[in-house]
Amino acid sequence: MEGFFGTRALVTGASSGIGAELSRKLAARGADLVITARSKDKLDRLAAEITEQSRVTVRVVVADLGRPGGAESLSADVDALGLPIDHLVNNAGFGDAGVFAKADAGKLAEMVRLNCEAVVVLSRHFLPAMLERRRGGVLNVASTAAFQPMPFMSVYAATKAFVLSFSAALAKEVEGTGVRVTALCPGPVPTGFQEAARIEPGVERIAALSAAETAERALFAYATGETVCVPGAVNRVQTVLSKLAPRGLVTSFLSAAMKRSGRAK
Ligand SMILES: NC(=O)c1ccc[n+]([C@@H]2O[C@H](COP(=O)([O-])OP(=O)(O)OC[C@H]3O[C@@H](n4cnc5c(N)ncnc54)[C@H](OP(=O)(O)O)[C@@H]3O)[C@@H](O)[C@H]2O)c1
Repeated sequence: MEGFFGTRALVTGASSGIGAELSRKLAARGADLVITARSKDKLDRLAAEITEQSRVTVRVVVADLGRPGGAESLSADVDALGLPIDHLVNNAGFGDAGVFAKADAGKLAEMVRLNCEAVVVLSRHFLPAMLERRRGGVLNVASTAAFQPMPFMSVYAATKAFVLSFSAALAKEVEGTGVRVTALCPGPVPTGFQEAARIEPGVERIAALSAAETAERALFAYATGETVCVPGAVNRVQTVLSKLAPRGLVTSFLSAAMKRSGRAK
Protein backbone atom coordinates (compact mmCIF):
# COMPACT_ATOMS: atom_id res chain seq x y z
CA MET A 1 0.00 0.00 0.00
CA GLU A 2 1.41 3.43 -0.94
CA GLY A 3 1.31 6.00 1.85
CA PHE A 4 0.43 9.68 1.71
CA PHE A 5 2.91 11.07 4.25
CA GLY A 6 5.07 13.81 2.73
CA THR A 7 3.13 13.90 -0.55
CA ARG A 8 0.79 16.60 -1.90
CA ALA A 9 -2.77 16.26 -3.18
CA LEU A 10 -4.85 18.62 -5.31
CA VAL A 11 -8.52 18.13 -4.39
CA THR A 12 -11.27 19.68 -6.52
CA GLY A 13 -14.70 20.28 -5.00
CA ALA A 14 -13.08 20.44 -1.57
CA SER A 15 -15.47 23.04 -0.15
CA SER A 16 -18.12 20.51 0.91
CA GLY A 17 -19.29 16.89 1.02
CA ILE A 18 -17.02 14.09 -0.17
CA GLY A 19 -14.24 16.48 -1.27
CA ALA A 20 -14.01 18.10 2.16
CA GLU A 21 -13.84 14.66 3.82
CA LEU A 22 -11.20 13.43 1.35
CA SER A 23 -9.18 16.55 2.20
CA ARG A 24 -9.49 15.97 5.96
CA LYS A 25 -8.48 12.32 5.62
CA LEU A 26 -5.56 13.02 3.28
CA ALA A 27 -4.28 15.61 5.76
CA ALA A 28 -4.71 13.15 8.64
CA ARG A 29 -2.47 10.76 6.68
CA GLY A 30 0.21 13.46 6.33
CA ALA A 31 -0.45 14.81 2.82
CA ASP A 32 -0.07 18.52 2.09
CA LEU A 33 -3.05 19.90 0.21
CA VAL A 34 -4.06 22.27 -2.52
CA ILE A 35 -7.82 22.59 -2.18
CA THR A 36 -10.07 24.16 -4.77
CA ALA A 37 -13.71 25.03 -5.48
CA ARG A 38 -15.64 28.29 -6.13
CA SER A 39 -16.48 29.10 -2.47
CA LYS A 40 -13.40 30.83 -1.04
CA ASP A 41 -14.95 31.29 2.42
CA LYS A 42 -15.66 27.57 2.82
CA LEU A 43 -12.20 26.63 1.53
CA ASP A 44 -10.55 29.08 3.94
CA ARG A 45 -12.55 27.63 6.85
CA LEU A 46 -11.54 24.08 5.89
CA ALA A 47 -7.89 25.09 5.50
CA ALA A 48 -7.93 26.70 8.96
CA GLU A 49 -9.58 23.61 10.50
CA ILE A 50 -7.07 21.23 8.91
CA THR A 51 -3.97 23.26 9.77
CA GLU A 52 -5.16 23.52 13.36
CA GLN A 53 -5.47 19.74 13.61
CA SER A 54 -2.42 18.57 11.66
CA ARG A 55 1.05 19.69 10.60
CA VAL A 56 0.38 19.70 6.86
CA THR A 57 0.29 22.82 4.70
CA VAL A 58 -2.95 23.71 2.90
CA ARG A 59 -3.12 26.12 -0.04
CA VAL A 60 -6.43 27.46 -1.31
CA VAL A 61 -6.97 28.15 -5.02
CA VAL A 62 -10.40 29.39 -6.11
CA ALA A 63 -11.57 28.09 -9.50
CA ASP A 64 -14.78 27.68 -11.46
CA LEU A 65 -14.31 24.46 -13.41
CA GLY A 66 -17.73 24.72 -15.02
CA ARG A 67 -16.83 27.71 -17.16
CA PRO A 68 -14.86 27.44 -20.41
CA GLY A 69 -11.13 27.51 -19.67
CA GLY A 70 -11.69 26.97 -15.92
CA ALA A 71 -9.57 23.82 -15.69
CA GLU A 72 -6.74 25.40 -17.72
CA SER A 73 -6.76 28.43 -15.36
CA LEU A 74 -6.63 26.16 -12.31
CA SER A 75 -3.70 24.23 -13.81
CA ALA A 76 -1.81 27.50 -14.39
CA ASP A 77 -2.63 28.79 -10.88
CA VAL A 78 -1.42 25.54 -9.28
CA ASP A 79 1.75 25.59 -11.42
CA ALA A 80 2.36 29.15 -10.21
CA LEU A 81 2.50 27.85 -6.62
CA GLY A 82 5.60 25.87 -7.67
CA LEU A 83 4.45 22.82 -5.70
CA PRO A 84 4.52 19.37 -7.28
CA ILE A 85 1.19 17.50 -7.19
CA ASP A 86 1.45 13.80 -6.35
CA HIS A 87 -2.26 13.02 -6.15
CA LEU A 88 -4.96 14.59 -8.28
CA VAL A 89 -8.44 14.12 -6.83
CA ASN A 90 -11.04 14.99 -9.46
CA ASN A 91 -14.04 15.20 -7.15
CA ALA A 92 -15.97 18.36 -8.13
CA GLY A 93 -19.24 17.57 -9.86
CA PHE A 94 -22.97 18.05 -9.82
CA GLY A 95 -26.11 16.43 -11.17
CA ASP A 96 -29.55 17.64 -12.18
CA ALA A 97 -32.77 15.65 -12.23
CA GLY A 98 -35.62 16.25 -14.66
CA VAL A 99 -36.86 15.94 -18.23
CA PHE A 100 -33.93 16.41 -20.63
CA ALA A 101 -36.00 18.35 -23.21
CA LYS A 102 -36.94 20.95 -20.56
CA ALA A 103 -33.48 21.24 -18.97
CA ASP A 104 -31.48 24.47 -18.89
CA ALA A 105 -29.04 24.02 -21.80
CA GLY A 106 -26.40 26.22 -20.16
CA LYS A 107 -26.51 24.13 -16.99
CA LEU A 108 -26.10 20.92 -19.00
CA ALA A 109 -23.03 22.34 -20.76
CA GLU A 110 -21.60 23.41 -17.39
CA MET A 111 -22.19 19.89 -16.04
CA VAL A 112 -20.34 18.28 -18.95
CA ARG A 113 -17.46 20.75 -18.58
CA LEU A 114 -17.17 20.18 -14.82
CA ASN A 115 -17.86 16.44 -14.65
CA CYS A 116 -15.94 15.43 -17.83
CA GLU A 117 -13.82 18.10 -19.47
CA ALA A 118 -12.15 19.31 -16.25
CA VAL A 119 -11.30 15.71 -15.34
CA VAL A 120 -9.55 15.23 -18.70
CA VAL A 121 -7.79 18.61 -18.72
CA LEU A 122 -6.48 18.28 -15.15
CA SER A 123 -5.41 14.65 -15.64
CA ARG A 124 -3.58 15.53 -18.86
CA HIS A 125 -1.87 18.43 -17.11
CA PHE A 126 -0.72 16.70 -13.91
CA LEU A 127 -0.18 13.08 -14.97
CA PRO A 128 3.10 13.49 -16.94
CA ALA A 129 5.04 14.77 -13.89
CA MET A 130 3.63 11.89 -11.81
CA LEU A 131 4.87 9.44 -14.45
CA GLU A 132 8.30 11.10 -14.40
CA ARG A 133 8.46 10.77 -10.60
CA ARG A 134 7.01 7.23 -10.85
CA ARG A 135 4.61 7.83 -7.98
CA GLY A 136 1.20 9.22 -7.10
CA GLY A 137 -1.90 9.07 -9.23
CA VAL A 138 -5.41 10.20 -9.99
CA LEU A 139 -8.57 9.54 -7.98
CA ASN A 140 -11.64 10.32 -10.07
CA VAL A 141 -15.06 10.54 -8.46
CA ALA A 142 -17.62 8.84 -10.70
CA SER A 143 -20.86 7.35 -9.28
CA THR A 144 -22.96 4.19 -9.27
CA ALA A 145 -24.92 6.18 -11.89
CA ALA A 146 -21.99 5.33 -14.20
CA PHE A 147 -23.09 1.70 -14.51
CA GLN A 148 -26.38 2.23 -16.36
CA PRO A 149 -28.24 4.91 -18.32
CA MET A 150 -30.61 6.91 -16.10
CA PRO A 151 -33.78 8.38 -17.59
CA PHE A 152 -34.54 11.82 -16.04
CA MET A 153 -30.90 12.16 -14.98
CA SER A 154 -29.58 11.29 -18.41
CA VAL A 155 -26.69 13.73 -18.77
CA TYR A 156 -25.41 13.24 -15.22
CA ALA A 157 -25.31 9.43 -15.59
CA ALA A 158 -23.61 9.78 -18.98
CA THR A 159 -20.94 12.09 -17.52
CA LYS A 160 -20.21 9.55 -14.81
CA ALA A 161 -20.08 6.68 -17.35
CA PHE A 162 -17.47 8.82 -19.13
CA VAL A 163 -15.45 9.23 -15.91
CA LEU A 164 -15.58 5.49 -15.18
CA SER A 165 -14.59 4.48 -18.72
CA PHE A 166 -11.81 7.10 -18.89
CA SER A 167 -10.43 6.06 -15.49
CA ALA A 168 -10.44 2.33 -16.26
CA ALA A 169 -8.63 2.90 -19.55
CA LEU A 170 -6.09 5.26 -17.99
CA ALA A 171 -5.46 2.82 -15.12
CA LYS A 172 -4.44 0.22 -17.70
CA GLU A 173 -2.23 2.68 -19.61
CA VAL A 174 -0.22 3.56 -16.50
CA GLU A 175 0.09 -0.02 -15.21
CA GLY A 176 3.65 -0.76 -14.07
CA THR A 177 4.69 2.92 -13.92
CA GLY A 178 4.27 3.39 -10.16
CA VAL A 179 1.28 5.68 -10.84
CA ARG A 180 -2.31 4.55 -10.25
CA VAL A 181 -5.75 5.64 -11.31
CA THR A 182 -8.89 4.84 -9.31
CA ALA A 183 -12.53 5.56 -10.07
CA LEU A 184 -14.62 6.04 -6.94
CA CYS A 185 -18.26 5.15 -7.59
CA PRO A 186 -20.35 6.15 -4.58
CA GLY A 187 -24.03 5.41 -4.24
CA PRO A 188 -26.14 7.95 -2.35
CA VAL A 189 -24.19 10.10 0.11
CA PRO A 190 -25.98 12.89 2.01
CA THR A 191 -24.11 16.07 0.92
CA GLY A 192 -24.88 19.27 -0.98
CA PHE A 193 -25.36 17.03 -4.03
CA GLN A 194 -29.07 16.31 -3.43
CA GLU A 195 -30.05 19.97 -3.23
CA ALA A 196 -27.93 20.88 -6.28
CA ALA A 197 -29.50 17.98 -8.22
CA ARG A 198 -33.02 18.87 -7.03
CA ILE A 199 -33.62 15.39 -5.60
CA GLU A 200 -35.34 14.64 -2.32
CA PRO A 201 -33.66 11.70 -0.59
CA GLY A 202 -35.83 8.66 -1.45
CA VAL A 203 -35.82 4.89 -0.98
CA GLU A 204 -32.09 4.75 -1.89
CA ARG A 205 -31.40 6.22 1.59
CA ILE A 206 -31.07 2.61 2.81
CA ALA A 207 -27.80 2.35 0.86
CA ALA A 208 -26.47 5.74 1.97
CA LEU A 209 -22.99 5.98 3.45
CA SER A 210 -21.69 9.19 5.03
CA ALA A 211 -19.20 11.38 3.18
CA ALA A 212 -16.59 10.41 5.79
CA GLU A 213 -17.18 6.65 5.26
CA THR A 214 -17.06 7.14 1.51
CA ALA A 215 -13.79 9.08 1.70
CA GLU A 216 -12.23 6.46 3.99
CA ARG A 217 -13.03 3.63 1.56
CA ALA A 218 -11.92 5.70 -1.42
CA LEU A 219 -8.49 6.39 0.04
CA PHE A 220 -8.01 2.75 1.00
CA ALA A 221 -8.91 1.66 -2.56
CA TYR A 222 -6.63 4.29 -4.08
CA ALA A 223 -3.73 3.46 -1.75
CA THR A 224 -4.02 -0.24 -2.54
CA GLY A 225 -4.27 0.32 -6.29
CA GLU A 226 -7.91 -0.70 -6.88
CA THR A 227 -9.13 0.55 -10.25
CA VAL A 228 -12.82 0.79 -9.36
CA CYS A 229 -14.17 1.34 -5.85
CA VAL A 230 -17.89 1.01 -5.11
CA PRO A 231 -18.28 1.68 -1.38
CA GLY A 232 -21.04 -0.24 0.44
CA ALA A 233 -22.43 -3.75 -0.05
CA VAL A 234 -25.87 -2.60 -1.25
CA ASN A 235 -24.27 -0.35 -3.86
CA ARG A 236 -22.02 -3.18 -5.05
CA VAL A 237 -25.01 -5.53 -5.46
CA GLN A 238 -26.83 -2.82 -7.40
CA THR A 239 -23.92 -2.38 -9.83
CA VAL A 240 -23.68 -6.13 -10.39
CA LEU A 241 -27.43 -6.33 -11.12
CA SER A 242 -27.15 -3.37 -13.50
CA LYS A 243 -24.43 -5.18 -15.44
CA LEU A 244 -26.31 -8.50 -15.59
CA ALA A 245 -29.85 -7.30 -16.36
CA PRO A 246 -30.87 -6.35 -19.92
CA ARG A 247 -30.42 -2.60 -20.46
CA GLY A 248 -34.07 -2.10 -21.48
CA LEU A 249 -35.25 -3.62 -18.22
CA VAL A 250 -32.90 -1.47 -16.14
CA THR A 251 -33.92 1.79 -17.87
CA SER A 252 -37.65 0.89 -17.58
CA PHE A 253 -37.21 0.22 -13.87
CA LEU A 254 -35.27 3.47 -13.29
CA SER A 255 -37.69 5.51 -15.38
CA ALA A 256 -40.63 4.23 -13.30
CA ALA A 257 -38.73 4.87 -10.06
CA MET A 258 -37.86 8.44 -11.09
CA LYS A 259 -41.50 9.13 -12.03
CA ARG A 260 -42.76 7.66 -8.75
CA SER A 261 -40.35 9.80 -6.74
CA GLY A 262 -41.47 12.99 -8.51
CA ARG A 263 -38.04 13.56 -10.09
CA ALA A 264 -39.29 13.32 -13.69
CA LYS A 265 -40.37 16.97 -13.97
N1 LIG B 1 -23.59 12.77 -2.87
C1 LIG B 1 -23.92 11.74 -3.64
O1 LIG B 1 -24.97 11.10 -3.44
C2 LIG B 1 -22.99 11.33 -4.75
C3 LIG B 1 -23.13 10.04 -5.30
C4 LIG B 1 -22.29 9.65 -6.32
C5 LIG B 1 -21.31 10.52 -6.78
N2 LIG B 1 -21.19 11.76 -6.25
C6 LIG B 1 -20.15 12.66 -6.79
O2 LIG B 1 -19.34 13.07 -5.72
C7 LIG B 1 -18.68 14.29 -6.09
C8 LIG B 1 -18.74 15.24 -4.91
O3 LIG B 1 -20.09 15.60 -4.68
P1 LIG B 1 -20.71 15.76 -3.22
O4 LIG B 1 -21.68 14.68 -3.02
O5 LIG B 1 -19.65 15.94 -2.22
O6 LIG B 1 -21.57 17.10 -3.45
P2 LIG B 1 -21.38 18.58 -2.90
O7 LIG B 1 -21.38 18.58 -1.42
O8 LIG B 1 -22.43 19.37 -3.62
O9 LIG B 1 -19.94 19.00 -3.41
C9 LIG B 1 -19.68 19.38 -4.73
C10 LIG B 1 -18.35 20.11 -4.78
O10 LIG B 1 -18.09 20.48 -6.14
C11 LIG B 1 -17.78 21.88 -6.17
N3 LIG B 1 -18.23 22.47 -7.42
C12 LIG B 1 -19.49 22.51 -7.91
N4 LIG B 1 -19.52 23.22 -9.05
C13 LIG B 1 -18.23 23.63 -9.28
C14 LIG B 1 -17.63 24.41 -10.29
N5 LIG B 1 -18.34 24.93 -11.30
N6 LIG B 1 -16.29 24.64 -10.22
C15 LIG B 1 -15.57 24.14 -9.20
N7 LIG B 1 -16.08 23.39 -8.21
C16 LIG B 1 -17.41 23.16 -8.24
C17 LIG B 1 -18.55 22.47 -4.98
O11 LIG B 1 -17.94 23.65 -4.51
P3 LIG B 1 -18.40 25.15 -4.82
O12 LIG B 1 -19.88 25.19 -4.86
O13 LIG B 1 -17.78 25.92 -3.70
O14 LIG B 1 -17.75 25.46 -6.14
C18 LIG B 1 -18.37 21.38 -3.94
O15 LIG B 1 -17.14 21.53 -3.27
C19 LIG B 1 -19.38 14.78 -7.36
O16 LIG B 1 -18.58 14.49 -8.47
C20 LIG B 1 -20.65 13.95 -7.40
O17 LIG B 1 -21.13 13.78 -8.70
C21 LIG B 1 -22.01 12.19 -5.24
